[in-house]
Amino acid sequence: MVEFACLHSAEASLVLELGAERLPVWRHCGARVAVGGLPALAATRGPASFSLDQDVPLSCLPGAEQGWFGRVAIPIADGQPFRPQCTAVVETAEDLAIELADAALGLTLRQEFAILPGGAFSVRSRLTNSSGAPIRLTDPCSAMLPLSGPWQRIVSWRGRHNAELVELVEPMPAHAWLRETRRGISGHGGPPGIYLLAEGATDHNGLVMALQLVWSGDSRIAVERDDEGRWLLSLASTGTRTLAAGETLQLPDVLLAISTHGRNGAMAMQHAAVRHLLVWPHGRMTDRPVHLNSWEACYFDHDEARIMALAEAAAALGAERFVLDDGWFRGRNHDRRGLGDWVADPLKYPAGIGPLAEKVTALGLQFGLWVEPEMVNPDSDLYRAHPDWVLAEAGRDPLTARNQLVLDMRREDVRDHLFDALDRLLRDHPIAYLKWDQNRDHAPSGGPAQVLGTYALLERLRTAHPMVEIEGCAGGGGRSDAGMARYVHRFWTSDNIDGLSRVAMQRAFLAFLPPEIMGAHVGASPCHATGRVQSLPFRAAIACMGHLGVEMDPATLAAEEHQELARWIGFYRQWRGVLHGGEVLMGSGADGLLWQAQGRGGDYLLFVIRQSPAQDRRPQPLRLPFAARHASWDVRLLEIAENRGPHCPAQPALTEQLRAGPVSFTGSWLAAAGLPLPAQQGESVAIYHLKGGAA
Ligand code: GLA
Repeated sequence: MVEFACLHSAEASLVLELGAERLPVWRHCGARVAVGGLPALAATRGPASFSLDQDVPLSCLPGAEQGWFGRVAIPIADGQPFRPQCTAVVETAEDLAIELADAALGLTLRQEFAILPGGAFSVRSRLTNSSGAPIRLTDPCSAMLPLSGPWQRIVSWRGRHNAELVELVEPMPAHAWLRETRRGISGHGGPPGIYLLAEGATDHNGLVMALQLVWSGDSRIAVERDDEGRWLLSLASTGTRTLAAGETLQLPDVLLAISTHGRNGAMAMQHAAVRHLLVWPHGRMTDRPVHLNSWEACYFDHDEARIMALAEAAAALGAERFVLDDGWFRGRNHDRRGLGDWVADPLKYPAGIGPLAEKVTALGLQFGLWVEPEMVNPDSDLYRAHPDWVLAEAGRDPLTARNQLVLDMRREDVRDHLFDALDRLLRDHPIAYLKWDQNRDHAPSGGPAQVLGTYALLERLRTAHPMVEIEGCAGGGGRSDAGMARYVHRFWTSDNIDGLSRVAMQRAFLAFLPPEIMGAHVGASPCHATGRVQSLPFRAAIACMGHLGVEMDPATLAAEEHQELARWIGFYRQWRGVLHGGEVLMGSGADGLLWQAQGRGGDYLLFVIRQSPAQDRRPQPLRLPFAARHASWDVRLLEIAENRGPHCPAQPALTEQLRAGPVSFTGSWLAAAGLPLPAQQGESVAIYHLKGGAA
């Protein structure tokens, strides 16, 4: 009788075979299957050409058996390799735990697979050192999984400051595929994660696997093919970890989403898994308040009078949170000075931050403050007092970037100092929000311990000030990942807020992280990052897909545009309950159209995005596969966000009917024949409200 250990979610199955080998061996990781009276793996594997006489199947811990030629899951830096026996398997309907122990080495690995809300699996690996001496690990894998299935393409992302999250789709490799980051932060290419698409997978259908590591530092994701023809996937937080005698080390979790409902299905699972990590004040998300952030309004050039004028303008527009960005602390008139000295600049803010925060709060706005705790300028009192507190090679001048150095977050005294400075700010002043920035790569590397040091500081601060929300930022989106999601409530997606650039970037952000934590601002035109000119409605509609903010001085707007911006803020406030916390569905239409629906149940906002001018003479109807879930839908056209003027295209009669709406369509019609669309200019977004009738 063959014995299996299985974990089944609604759409996927993990199946390991027990007993025949020293360790459980993988039989399946993919779409849901019934195991039934499956024959033993050994019976299915004949002799392999020119191979060892002893079979070497893929175990749950490759590297342990002699004769494994592939990547080793848990490499020991020095000393003997890890060769455990399986000592326990505990299986329930919701989780599966496997314990592997090497008595000679004194090391035990406990691997736990669990089903998360929303249907993704989590993979957690915990190592315990029961030997009397430290054990050093290099690049330990959090998970190693078989890619036995019809996998065809790998989707990944790369990026730089102001050009985050560019999607790449590549075929499965003949030899190996690698995504490795070595800059100390997860980087502008986004979370350490990939999507795998099976043959025929689309946005809506087919088998898709999406994985991300809950980690903000260096990582390696590898898809490797061995001579047997197997593909193996591994995810590792890279760097050396030392396990002290008696210590237990938890490696970063993997969030593993396997869906048969295409990329949208896997994305929904990732969103649910990340939402599970978020820790909100009072235990639940409240309406995401509209921000006004001072950075692009005035950069370093501000004082109390200027900031108060900006805050008043923010309140008049309908904003709900004012964030005072960089430039408020001692000597900070440019980026060459001041990081590390977290006290108000006496010339700009003679009365300090407290009275300012009170005045802003009195306007009915929450007050938020920018900090960059992990950094220091050489020209600062902190660095003069503690030049040894930075990451540096012994005997060499430390390497600056943006004129700043990285504090050594591995040091307890550094973390204590930063905690005291931030705790004092939060205790003494009515600060409801921190924008926590991190503006450079780490050179030299502080390794995984640097990341853990930052987590520890964030954790301590959150425990002391659980009501304070935090925004994660790293030169725009250089550290937006599930590791940070445990401590923050929003990510600054990019310093590039050009509406066109944001279309693809925000879709990529949403591959792993939900819309309510995606910072999206309406910026000035021309856009500071790209120099491009775009209409206010277009910029605003794009920003409404995330957590809305304003990143400009409203005083620079003509009266009409000012009114228009206030109207969009009102639009977002009206619809944010639908836009956040639910599902995101994406797809594409004819002639370059993209669409995105956000909502839940039978209540969605649909954004139809036209980036470039149309080629076709008439817009073709837009098929919405998700509409098949309801028998009928009431459809209303809320906005066509475009460059209004004398050149707006003429519209069919239905456009006005849809505006006056609702107009009713059957679900099957919308799914198969499609929603008739208005004519749209390049750089425009049509926004609809879709209300579903009986399911
Ligand atoms: C980074 C951030 C910006 C702003 C500046 C301030 O670039 O991404 O939003 O906060 O730092 O220096």
